[in-house]
Amino acid sequence: MSKTFKLDGREIPFETGQTIMDAALAAGVYIPHLCHNPELAPHGSCRVCLVDIGERQVSACTAAASEGMEVDSSSETIQATRRAILQMLFVEGNHVCPACEKSGACQLQAVAYYTGMLAPHFTHFFPRRPVDASHPDVVIDFNRCILCELCVRASRDHDGKRVFAISGRGLESHLVIDSPSGLLGDSCFAAADKAAHVCPTGAILPKGRGYETPIGERLYDREPISIVGDVRAHEEEVV
Ligand code: SF4
Ligand code: FES
Repeated sequence: MSKTFKLDGREIPFETGQTIMDAALAAGVYIPHLCHNPELAPHGSCRVCLVDIGERQVSACTAAASEGMEVDSSSETIQATRRAILQMLFVEGNHVCPACEKSGACQLQAVAYYTGMLAPHFTHFFPRRPVDASHPDVVIDFNRCILCELCVRASRDHDGKRVFAISGRGLESHLVIDSPSGLLGDSCFAAADKAAHVCPTGAILPKGRGYETPIGERLYDREPISIVGDVRAHEEEVV
């Protein structure tokens, strides 16, 4: 008989070694997340997948599932904590949702809607960050980067290239590109790389396309992210 734990009162089966997120996704239950992609090693940095396991709050993407545990992923307390984390992500960068090509198909925006975030709440940092359009096929807008490291992990662990890395600490943390000039166009990055297709925001975008789907028909216009899931699973529709 397989082991189970309770997630918001529902029995979730799991195998030894699975995280709470692994088991929830396998059971078709959505836990909000941004830095998690089941194809890549978990990173546990965005904290949006925070759940309550009784004695403490843990990130579902890194915490191991265990027999009989009771997990709260949907109480107002948990949702309020997630909202605060999302509000911080929004003010730390420059997220121009109304003008962004990824609007309607952006996980950051969709998770904010899911948690009921209505305003940024905190004072905007308005950091000065560049846009790198040096690559022939892909543009990278650092203003929209949430430092989830999905591109870092995809490039390193899947593409075998190490094009991206995070440099600096704390508020000085930023994404850097491994090329003599620091520009994407001078790196070995290619549009076919997995790293070009994992960004949950509009930070890494293909050139020559944009605003292709009318408002009302975009990925997360149709149904919430809890039903639609990650944008990467719908790449052909939205990229
Ligand atoms: S560019 Fe995108 S995938 Fe890479 S760290 Fe920033 S938000 Fe994450
Ligand atoms: S999805 Fe778990 S910490 Fe980001």
